[in-house]
Amino acid sequence: AGWLRYAPIPGAAHHHGSLPSHVVALNDSTISPVYTAGQELERGIRSIFGKSCNVHYGHFPHGHLPGFSSVVVGTLEAYSDAYGDLTDVPELIEGGFWLSTKGQHVQILGQNERGTLYGAFEYLSMLAQGNTTEVAYAANPDAPIRWTNEWDNMDGSIERGFAGESIFFADGGIVGNLTRAAEYARLLASIRINAVVVNNVNANATLLSPQNLDGLARIADVFRPYGVQVGISLYFSSPASAVPGRASLTTFDPLDDTVKSWWGNVTRDIYQRIPDFAGYLVKANSEGQPGPLTYNRTLAEGAALFSKPLQPYGGIVMFRAFVYDYQTLNESDWTADRANAAVDYFRPLDGEFDNNVVIQIKYGPIDFQVREPASPLFADIPNSNTAIELQITQEYLGQQCHLLYWAPLWKEILDTDLRADNKASYVKDIVSGQRFNKPLGGYAGVSNVGMNDTWLGSHLSMSNLYAFGRLAWNPSQDVVDILQDWTRLTFTLDTSVIDTITQMSMESWPAYENYSGNLGIQTLTDILYTHYGPNPQSQDGNSWGQWTRADGFSIGMDRTVSNGTGFAGQYPDEVAQMYEDIATTPDNLLLWFHHVNYTHVLKSGVSVIQDFYDQHYAGAQTAQTFVTAWNSLKGKIDDERWTDQLFRQVYQAGHSIVWRDAITNFYHNLSGIPDEAGRVGNY
Ligand code: GCU
Repeated sequence: AGWLRYAPIPGAAHHHGSLPSHVVALNDSTISPVYTAGQELERGIRSIFGKSCNVHYGHFPHGHLPGFSSVVVGTLEAYSDAYGDLTDVPELIEGGFWLSTKGQHVQILGQNERGTLYGAFEYLSMLAQGNTTEVAYAANPDAPIRWTNEWDNMDGSIERGFAGESIFFADGGIVGNLTRAAEYARLLASIRINAVVVNNVNANATLLSPQNLDGLARIADVFRPYGVQVGISLYFSSPASAVPGRASLTTFDPLDDTVKSWWGNVTRDIYQRIPDFAGYLVKANSEGQPGPLTYNRTLAEGAALFSKPLQPYGGIVMFRAFVYDYQTLNESDWTADRANAAVDYFRPLDGEFDNNVVIQIKYGPIDFQVREPASPLFADIPNSNTAIELQITQEYLGQQCHLLYWAPLWKEILDTDLRADNKASYVKDIVSGQRFNKPLGGYAGVSNVGMNDTWLGSHLSMSNLYAFGRLAWNPSQDVVDILQDWTRLTFTLDTSVIDTITQMSMESWPAYENYSGNLGIQTLTDILYTHYGPNPQSQDGNSWGQWTRADGFSIGMDRTVSNGTGFAGQYPDEVAQMYEDIATTPDNLLLWFHHVNYTHVLKSGVSVIQDFYDQHYAGAQTAQTFVTAWNSLKGKIDDERWTDQLFRQVYQAGHSIVWRDAITNFYHNLSGIPDEAGRVGNY
């Protein structure tokens, strides 16, 4: 149920008189999101208040509304057709809605069907939080693309998923029972996600077999009543792979006519089954995978292979910017830098992508690290649609075994002003399409939910999925407000619980950064395989191009133009100058941009090495306080969830000390510089 528990609120019975007794849902087709909204309203009001409403599907007879108090829920158009125009509704854009609780009838009117359902969830969210005040307002989305990505494999495993098996796939096909998928669709609709890419970016071509496309259509069928569209990830060399029921070609060259018609057929076959199919997500020429570069074609030519056949159907290509030369980077080359790859590849192609292509850019230039600057690519391709790729799953950030509320990190990236053409250029306004006047753009969140009851693997990690949807709709919302709405909906209206979970969550990212890798050095986790737990030695000498260049005296990646990899120069001038100069680079990104001695003194007045020691101790100390904080909630929330989460917090408290000691000892040994406080190496 996640945050859609609709738990009874204190004093529920007192509200009965002021609550509607009827729901009029202006569509009687059971696959319509408006119908779903009617069901959801009935269910929610019954569950929260113990009050049963009669639900009427379709227009109320005789073209006028019932004489008793009701919720009228439908598209604005259906409402006007049946009951005449409303004058007080502001302009709604795709997916927007009007919610008014004033007067005899609650009005929930969407610009389209999915927007109507969003409005119903908004109203229920108010009620579930005990808010019965009168409101009347319109809400519109900031960006049209609000998708999750699921890295589910056809065998039912999930890459970087920490909550059990796939809700979509098993044994090479689509599961028979899609109940969980429908429940997931309900959660997503409630946070206004409008599409899901159901399979791993490291895609398996066999998903394209006619039989598996039939299964995909079943997934689309359970998502449709919630207004959530389905998309898939593609493997670029699929035409030359063995896909049951399809021709196998000897080439996958994007300019080859047989390849083009191969993809044309796939696209046609999909739309025959799924007329509202969302589109494709493409990972090409990344981490050793095939792509257009395999044939010396450009990435734009590769994207066109998919955008062209999708165009007549209105489908979208999300083309990932996560393109880099795997295992060819050599650390002995001082100017080699994987962080440069995305801009190097994509900037020259700006303007060459079709209108239905969106470049999907990870928030930072490397890979979902605990601290990265915003990717410069957002500012560098003004003639292309862009979307930001965030992780909801905590791949490098504790894999749901550590508490980590992502929203403050996302917010910091979204609020970064990249100063394109010396003008305000916030990342959020670039991906929404506003800054460069683009029709498409938005958000992709790598969610990776599984069969585990908690969806993501731990109860508190669900605040991340919730916050993703909320920020994708409106990135200017406050991350504490979002968290507190989630907490009330998920746990209780008890303010002491809300305060405690707020404090823990808001301290969680800084704490994790402090005991994993501070000063912009990245996460210092095992880079070779697990991406879990401390392994600072893996951060150099690896062929992934993720380096710290740590030696006995100094540390950090010199990414300046004057003496380093030149990465800083990929930003627009004002930002480039800030990062070029050590004096204006913020301490928390110092080692991202500069290579310095361990004795280098920070703006705070402390040396780099001493700050390493201090922050690792401070971070681990904070993690200890989470146990105490969580303990204080005993009896205030249900025992089952309390006990589950306590286990996580105790584990994190211990593991944070493992982190602290591993990192501080590593750099103590490497540098030979003692800890002024005498902690490191003295046991
Ligand atoms: C990370 C992650 C991989 C994933 C890749 C991607 O490197 O560890 O599992 O495939 O990102 O985003 O493509």
